[in-house]
Amino acid sequence: MVDFQSVLDDIYTNLKDEVNRGLVASYIPELSNIDAQHFGIYLKHCNGQSYSVGDWNHKFSIQSISKVLSLSMALPLYSEAIWKRVDVEPSGNPFNHLSLLELENGIPRNPLINAGAIVIADVLVSHLKNPKQDFLNYVRDLANDQSIDYNYKVAASEKLTGYTNYAAANLLKAYNNLDNDVDEVLDFYFHQCSLEMNCQQLSNAFYLFANHGISLQQKQYLTPSRAKRINAIMLTCGFYDEAGEFAFEVGLPGKSGVGGGIVSLLPNHFTIAVWSPGLNEKGNSLLGMQALEQFTTKTKLSIF
Ligand code: DON
Repeated sequence: MVDFQSVLDDIYTNLKDEVNRGLVASYIPELSNIDAQHFGIYLKHCNGQSYSVGDWNHKFSIQSISKVLSLSMALPLYSEAIWKRVDVEPSGNPFNHLSLLELENGIPRNPLINAGAIVIADVLVSHLKNPKQDFLNYVRDLANDQSIDYNYKVAASEKLTGYTNYAAANLLKAYNNLDNDVDEVLDFYFHQCSLEMNCQQLSNAFYLFANHGISLQQKQYLTPSRAKRINAIMLTCGFYDEAGEFAFEVGLPGKSGVGGGIVSLLPNHFTIAVWSPGLNEKGNSLLGMQALEQFTTKTKLSIF
């Protein structure tokens, strides 16, 4: 059995004083105040053990990581018909690019780019009685932690500056791929992205993807087949135009967010969340990717 604690300690020692940490996201003004020095890791093993190092207990904006959670809630509600409205192919483009959306008649390449996640948000707005509260309760239940909440300032900040997401939603609407009002769907989407969680809460919430759809509290939220498919989408699309690089360096399904978080997992083994707010030029956590590369190299635990 791998000594996970000493592996995490080693990675932390190797990277904590790294000078080149990338740039904190500033296109959402409220995110630009975060100290780039933060760095934390939390690992939840499927045998019940957990391991942690650094700022694992500090909450941050999960941003695009929320797209996996919204997809996992929408899939059982809308069933396989969802794949007529959003595809499952990597885009090879940045997360907010719109050119393919027009070329492909309003069908987003996958549910993890912004346009795809906006379609998923539309599904949730249609199917949930109180979309924001119901989604929040779902995430709290998955993580088994009622303290998780939205950051309303971050949601408002993105609403003021989210011109590209408004463009995406309007394009989707023009192609009849949005049932609800643009403003209502984006209000939900900006809130889901503003969720604040720490590395422990993220590892716990993502546990069901490592456990064939069964959550930490032993509740079956997804069929094993749907959990498998969501993992496949994370592997191929979770890092946008860097999905190939993440598979190449790390070799696990995962999802990043511009708040600097990355969650990754190996089915039947573990979930792992890393947070370092500085991003590389593709919008993924610079140290986070390096930490996970070191992790799978040291432990030899990857899907490859
Ligand atoms: O819609 C946006 O641009 C943000 N709320 C989320 C983008 C994001 O996290 C991309 N991930 N690396």
